[in-house]
This record gives sequence, C-alpha cells and structure tokens, in this order.
Amino acid sequence: MRHSNISFILYFVLISSILVTKTHYVNGKGSVSTAEEDDMEKVLSKKPVKTITAKIGDIIDCVDIYKQPAFDHPLLKDHKIQMNPSSIPGDTTSKTILSSSIFRGLQREGCPSGTIPIRRTTKENLVNAKDFLTKTKLNHTNTMHYHSVSAEEFIEGKTYFGGIASMTIHNLTLDHDQFTTSQIWILNGPPEEINCIEFGIAKSPSIFGDSRSRLFGSWTADAYKKTGCLNMNCPGFVQVNPNVAFGQVFDRSSIYGEIVYGLDLMVYWAPISGNWWLGIGGNADKIEPIGYWPNKLFTHLANNASAVRYGGAAGAPSQRPTPPMGNGYLPRFDDYLKTAFMTNMMYVNETGDSVNLNLYSIKTKQDAKPDCYNIMFAGKLGGGWDITMVYGGPGGMCSSAMPLG
Ligand SMILES: *[C@@H]1O[C@H](CO)[C@@H](O)[C@H](O)[C@H]1NC(C)=O
Ligand SMILES: *[C@@H]1O[C@H](CO)[C@@H](O)[C@H](O)[C@H]1NC(C)=O
Ligand SMILES: *[C@@H]1O[C@H](CO)[C@@H](O)[C@H](O)[C@H]1NC(C)=O
Ligand SMILES: *[C@@H]1O[C@H](CO)[C@@H](O)[C@H](O)[C@H]1NC(C)=O
Repeated sequence: MRHSNISFILYFVLISSILVTKTHYVNGKGSVSTAEEDDMEKVLSKKPVKTITAKIGDIIDCVDIYKQPAFDHPLLKDHKIQMNPSSIPGDTTSKTILSSSIFRGLQREGCPSGTIPIRRTTKENLVNAKDFLTKTKLNHTNTMHYHSVSAEEFIEGKTYFGGIASMTIHNLTLDHDQFTTSQIWILNGPPEEINCIEFGIAKSPSIFGDSRSRLFGSWTADAYKKTGCLNMNCPGFVQVNPNVAFGQVFDRSSIYGEIVYGLDLMVYWAPISGNWWLGIGGNADKIEPIGYWPNKLFTHLANNASAVRYGGAAGAPSQRPTPPMGNGYLPRFDDYLKTAFMTNMMYVNETGDSVNLNLYSIKTKQDAKPDCYNIMFAGKLGGGWDITMVYGGPGGMCSSAMPLG
C-alpha cells in the first residue's frame, strides 16, 4: 500500500489576518445592475466599531454583529441570530493522522465582543467577484475560460447534509485576472436555478489584491443570476466568529517535496434551524464555527443537498491562459509531498453524522485537457488516511475540442 510511504505529518494551519498593503485594481470590466450596486454601496458603507490592520496589511473592520450586511437582506429582516450551531457533526478527525497535526496560525487578536470581522474591500473587487461568479455559472465561454476537476458520489436520489474534507494549501503566483480554487460544492436544483454553497481556498488578485491563499465561501439560489455572492460581498452570510473572516490569509503553505500544510473545512446543515454552517479546523479536536448561510436564502437547498463535489476550479478571461490549480503540478499517487490532495473526504448524513464517501460510487470529472488539470481518486488509504483524492495541474490554454469524461 502506498500509504506506508507517507512519512510526513500533515500540518494544519488556520488563518491569520496578515497581508500586503498593495492592492491592484482593475477597471470593473463587469457590469452590475442598479440593485446590485446599491447592495455593494451598503456593504462598503458599514461603519466599523474598530479597525484592525493585520500583520500583512489587510484591513479588518469590526462591525456590530447586528449591523452586518446579512441583515440588509429583505428575507432576513427579522432573523434571529444563532450564535452556535445546534450540533457539530461529530468525530470528524479524531482517529486520523491529523490528530498529530499542529494547530497554528490563527491570529487570536480578534474583534471586540459584540462585533464581527469583515475584511475591507473595494467596489472594483466586488464587481470583479460578481463578474467571475456569473460568468463561471452562466456558460459565457466566449468571455471566460473556466475549468474544474472534481470527485463526487453519484447515487441517484441520495440526500446530503454537509461536506467535509482536509485540503492542502499551496503557494502559487497568478496573473491579475486569473483565479484558482480548492473547494467543495454543495448543490441542489436544476442547472438554471441551481442552489449552491461553495467554500474552500481561493486565490484571485483582482478580487483580493494578491495571489495569496484565502478563505472563501459563496452562495446562490439561482445560478448567481440574481442572488448570491462571494464572502460577505452582499447580504447573506451571517458571521458569528470574532476571529476568522472570509478573505483572511492562510499563513502557511506547503513546500513542494518537503512539507504539507492543510486545513479542515466543513459546511453542514443544522437541524431545526436548517441553516448551513461553515466550520473550520486547524486542530484535530476542534472545529470552529465561523457563521452560516441562513436557510431562508435558499429554495432547493433549504432542506438538503443532492450532491457534494470536491475539487478545484481555475479561470481567466478567454484568449488568456488559465492559472495553475492545486500545487501547480499534475496529480500523482507516489508522493504526497509533491501533489495537492484532499483527504478525510466525508459527507454529513440525515442524522448529522459525518460519514466516509462510498468508495464504489465515486466518479471523477474534469473538463480540460488532461495535461492542464487532472484528478485521480486514490480511494481509502490506511494508516489514518481515509478517502483521498489528488488533483491539480499547471493550467495554460486548456480547452479541449470535446468535453472529456
Ligand atoms: C455551454 O454552451 C455551449 C455552446 O452554447 C454548449 O455547447 C454547452 O453544452 C454549454 N455547457 C453547459 C455546461 O451548459
Ligand atoms: C510564497 O510565494 C511568495 C512569492 O513567491 C514567497 O514570498 C513566499 O515566501 C512563499 N511562501 C511559502 C510558504 O513558500
Ligand atoms: C430533501 O429536500 C427536498 C426538497 O426540499 C424534500 O422534499 C425532501 O423531503 C428532503 N429529504 C430529506 C431526506 O430531508
Ligand atoms: C448516519 O451515520 C451514522 C454513522 O455512520 C449512522 O449510525 C446512522 O445510522 C446514519 N444515519 C442515517 C439516516 O443513515
């Protein structure tokens, strides 16, 4: 078995609020409606109770928890904030190799009590984020190259209540108008009105000002046509954690051939409220709730998901090469120090337990030339490793003439 050669520890990191001061702007190439523009102005005009300039230079505004953008959403006017999920899917990491991992990197200097952190952004960044989301979902192949690789259980009629994985963090340099992610998708509904929660690690200079790895989450209830956005860019996500914000930087990256750093992420449906909680872990015995997407935002995702997908995405304007994904190398099984991977791939079932994916039902999909990006399912590895897949690639001009299975 290959796992016997895995002689490293998957170090776990959390997020630290650090970043470079320099921000590059594009002139918003995207167009937004007046309503969207109003929302953006509202988001940008939130008055902070306190402002933190983090180590790397990111500005974090601490906003009154009851005045956060979510409460500007018409469906959330009378929303009663939930400070904690009713339960957290148990036993997610304790038996694994990850229990020997090191918790590090979460900067504990958070926002004062009663406030929540929002990473300061600009209108250009908001427009660019909106533009990426709509173009990737609405099949604008003439304006945008978008590629993804993913692994997923294909079981007709199965329902899911969350997705969980440990994913590795890598350092890549992107051009201004490229983006790349390592992520999980939680989905329900027909394509034209797909309800979706996406979360994981994103890099995007035109959205975040640099190529650093950052925590992201996005949602929509209609394939990003009218509803949804990235992070806290529009009313939707309810943040409760005072220490960790969307857009914050991961302060550790894997080093090719030497060391792997990773992160536990999960989104799960809380019984009774039906809210979709985001949890993040850097520590084997601690999953920290960050906040939630309220049940009311969704139609098809209100009660459960029909699919959970694990993988990566990369995009760029058409005519331009798409960026690296994962660690920038094609995936491999023989050396986990030299490949991007996800392990402990689990879903949450109806009773709120975390369950390994069914090995025999998993299919991988990729939509680009296999020398651009690829994904391979490794199965259930022993030695504390559970359901694992490897993925990534260098990118380039990746579109294939025909869709690849
Ligand atoms: C995207 O559009 C092209 C051309 O209109 C079409 O052939 C393709 O099937 C569409 N893909 C999806 C995923 O809808
Ligand atoms: C990531 O890349 C940047 C720029 O290439 C470099 O300055 C930084 O040290 C790298 N970090 C790690 C952890 O390799
Ligand atoms: C899943 O959601 C659908 C649509 O909301 C609902 O009809 C169905 O009963 C749900 N199934 C379970 C197992 O919760
Ligand atoms: C959920 O998973 C747990 C643990 O594997 C199992 O005991 C329980 O029966 C499952 N619930 C359902 C509804 O399948």
